[in-house]
Amino acid sequence: MHSNHRKLSVNRASLIHKIRYAARHPAKVAPHLRRTARDAWLRLVHRDHVAYYRAVMASDTARDPAAAVGSRSQERWLALGAMQFDYLKGHGLEPGHRLLDIGCGNLRAGWRFIDYLEPCHYYGIDISPDILISAKRTLTAYGLQAKLPHLTLTRDLTFDFLPDRHFDVVHAHSVFSHSPLHVIEECFAHVGRILAPGGFFDFTFDRTEGREHHVLREDFYYRTETLLTAADRHGLHGTFMTDWESLPHGQSKIRLTPA
Ligand SMILES: C[S@@+](CC[C@H](N)C(=O)[O-])C[C@H]1O[C@@H](n2cnc3c(N)ncnc32)[C@H](O)[C@@H]1O
Repeated sequence: MHSNHRKLSVNRASLIHKIRYAARHPAKVAPHLRRTARDAWLRLVHRDHVAYYRAVMASDTARDPAAAVGSRSQERWLALGAMQFDYLKGHGLEPGHRLLDIGCGNLRAGWRFIDYLEPCHYYGIDISPDILISAKRTLTAYGLQAKLPHLTLTRDLTFDFLPDRHFDVVHAHSVFSHSPLHVIEECFAHVGRILAPGGFFDFTFDRTEGREHHVLREDFYYRTETLLTAADRHGLHGTFMTDWESLPHGQSKIRLTPA
């Protein structure tokens, strides 16, 4: 399988990796220990994953919304949004399409989709109220009020409040990289219902070709086969998007269509 610059066999949860990493990046040890302590506390208070990750997002967003969605700087925030938008446009996204952006964050890509799509055709959902408030700030900053996007808080991925066969494109960028398998499977079990005829669901994930693992239950690493097999269980056909691999991004992308 095609791979770019990434180390696909590393197990970031292993002690040996942690020791080697700490030796190479001593300045990162103290912040990582602080994060470990914070996350341990948050996992104690919030037993279910979504509640836990919502608390992680509240803490991260309070510090810096761009960093909370994974961008080190405003420049990277803009570049990562452009990468998502250009990719979907290159794959046929049209202004008349309806798009559901799962885990829309603070509209890093969302503002570009909103700008491009017809009014009311963008629907962003997220588990974090804090990041959705930041999303509204982004919308305001770009003067996109007239596009009337939906920005909705959710606590699960059953999509029970959305209509059948509605969305031409469902999109989840850097969301399953923060999700345990049962959250991903819940999405797979329900996304087929809301996809319009001919529609597709694109998502990114942190790929490993070694052992599947997670770090602090914040970052999850999956084998491609695991996700393709899970999708198949729910009547979805998956395609590994090889053209995404050449882009300067740490994750891989799969496209699902009803089988
Ligand atoms: C790394 S950020 C990416 C945001 C956006 N997709 C982007 O690319 O800028 C991940 C986002 O997904 C949200 N999220 C995490 N798990 C989720 C879930 N199970 N359902 C919906 N949103 C989720 C987080 O709150 C966060 O806003």
